[in-house]
Amino acid sequence: MPSPPPYQLRSGTEQDLPAILEIFNHEVRTTTSLYLQDPVTLANRKAWFDGLRDGGYPFIVATAREGEGGEEEEVVGYSTLNTFRDTLGFNTVEVSLYIHRDHRGRGLGHLLTREIIRLGKERGYHTIIAGICTENSASLSLYKSHGFREVGVFRESGFKSGRWMSTAFYQLML
Ligand SMILES: CC(C)(COP(=O)(O)OP(=O)(O)OC[C@H]1O[C@@H](n2cnc3c(N)ncnc32)[C@H](O)[C@@H]1OP(=O)(O)O)[C@@H](O)C(=O)NCCC(=O)NCCS
Repeated sequence: MPSPPPYQLRSGTEQDLPAILEIFNHEVRTTTSLYLQDPVTLANRKAWFDGLRDGGYPFIVATAREGEGGEEEEVVGYSTLNTFRDTLGFNTVEVSLYIHRDHRGRGLGHLLTREIIRLGKERGYHTIIAGICTENSASLSLYKSHGFREVGVFRESGFKSGRWMSTAFYQLML
């Protein structure tokens, strides 16, 4: 088995959005980690990016060097902290994390989670929420291992793949 490429973390930029779109839409099409029925557009991800930038929220990407001489940089995963009910005055952010399908199981989820928690503390947020489909055992296990604790389940809160999905909410106090 080839060894995994060395990964780098950096802040995400608008130029990363096409790669982010590809990762995101793959999840929409093939999994229940998102309940959306249809792929989104680049304009949708641009609006999302503008919200992150305007709110000063952390957005990090993981990159790998690709090509013969490793001259091309490819975005292979990302994580954000974003608003959670901000119009209601909650001092809370919600985490997102997506790893490209070809780069899973190599520690990138751990790497990005450690870094987004560090950034959350640095920015002075008080607590992070993770909303996870109860069928998503990889994500449940990952967040638990970083200290997130379950606070409740919204039963049948999304409909995907012909059935109702329940969503577990996990919380980390910073
Ligand atoms: C969940 C996800 C982020 C994990 O990323 P990853 O890079 O594969 O994870 P890592 O290799 O760093 O492994 C992190 C932990 O996740 C869990 N995990 C990863 N793959 C798993 C699998 N196939 N089955 C069960 N647990 C798994 C384990 O707890 C693992 O820790 P360990 O190896 O120390 O036991 C990735 O599978 C993904 O992007 N999934 C689709 C999108 C998604 O579900 N996002 C979260 C939405 S809430």
